[in-house]
Amino acid sequence: MKVGIIGSGGREHAICESLKSSNKIDKIFCFPGNAGTQEIAENIDIDLENFENLKKFIFDKKIDLIIVGPEKPLVEGLVDYLESFKIKVFGPNKIASQLEGSKIFTKKICKKFDIPTANFGIFRNKDSAKKFLKKTNFPTVVKADNLASGKGVYICNKESEAITAIDEIFDGKFGRAKNLLVEEFLDGEEMSFFTIHDGNTFKTFETAQDHKRVLEGDKGKNTGGMGAYSPSRLINEELKNKIINKIIKPTLMGLDELGTNYKGFLYTGLMIVKNEPFLIEFNVRMGDPECQTILPKLKTNLSEILLACCEGRLEKLKIEWLNKKSLCVVVCSKGYPEEFKKNVEIENINKINLKEDDFFFHAGTVKKNNKVYAVGGRVLNLITLSDNFISARENIMQNLKKLNWTGGFFRKDIGYKVIDK
Ligand code: AMP
Ligand code: GLY
Repeated sequence: MKVGIIGSGGREHAICESLKSSNKIDKIFCFPGNAGTQEIAENIDIDLENFENLKKFIFDKKIDLIIVGPEKPLVEGLVDYLESFKIKVFGPNKIASQLEGSKIFTKKICKKFDIPTANFGIFRNKDSAKKFLKKTNFPTVVKADNLASGKGVYICNKESEAITAIDEIFDGKFGRAKNLLVEEFLDGEEMSFFTIHDGNTFKTFETAQDHKRVLEGDKGKNTGGMGAYSPSRLINEELKNKIINKIIKPTLMGLDELGTNYKGFLYTGLMIVKNEPFLIEFNVRMGDPECQTILPKLKTNLSEILLACCEGRLEKLKIEWLNKKSLCVVVCSKGYPEEFKKNVEIENINKINLKEDDFFFHAGTVKKNNKVYAVGGRVLNLITLSDNFISARENIMQNLKKLNWTGGFFRKDIGYKVIDK
């Protein structure tokens, strides 16, 4: 079987690595991939906005299954397009992808089905949003409605900050914004909860806790994610059942009412307040770096699972996991999430020494003349599986010492909530 993966991050390298061990797969393509995927797959630099070209390539190379990593092509309807040519694709369709593409779409489902989430108001212009601030408690949260790559969310401690947020969003800082949300601030601890769906049924796909802020102690700007550990310290059977019954099942009913269903990974971003789950956001894909953290624990081959989803037979498949803890540290280019230099060589990359339970995934890297260069904000991911988080992190730190990359930085405190109590 031939498989194609869309995306270029650590998530896509982790997917590539998970598929590699399947004896049913004889070729993997990555669109466009990175220096890490290049060791496993053939990287193809193709314009992902041009669906027709992509379809031609898929037909030319007789690719049997396409896996979509990031949200943008999903929200733009790539799955619907390829499926109209009978191509097997793992990922949700355009309507279902609105769960991530439009926060207002999701909030409407929440309202209709009484899904626990922050109270909110939707505003179409600056004046009405600013007027609402007069009767708001602070901190409050202001959000752009469109896809903003993890940015576009402002936690505002006072009215003046919220006014700046409203101005920036409506002035187009995150692209054209028709609406924004002002939302109640939820004071709790975040958890990423994953499920995998085949259009009829779904199964849980582990939990993780991401570290979104750039600085140690969860300070500084929001990023795409600086590291994660899995499972989340918050998860328990009771909470899991609440998440499924109060959030996921009603959401699927909402999609059903709209005449559609869900196929793919669903990432439920939650705030847990006293063992009660509140929905912060849905993402219609795996998380990054949660994917890199979770996939190494998977015992069942990923290709079996994804094929079962595309063929609507997930119910009968047993997904098996290693009973281990996993921790992932992300190495970023200096300056991220603000401006950073591109094409900086990662000199000691070959000094990283992987033992059996270690994994190493590239993100924003390219290989030129046998040297690896950083070209993105998030560059490398180191993961260790262990019986405990302490030894996992120590092991990663030893490897990062060997790497000693002057162009980058990382958080040394990933997993502090389960380690440094
Ligand atoms: P989002 O893009 O909606 O996931 O928001 C980005 C981040 O902002 C989340 O991961 C949270 O850390 C924070 N956040 C979003 N909404 C809320 C809220 N209602 N209360 C507290 N924090 C929030
Ligand atoms: N780790 C956050 C995200 O993938 O959106």
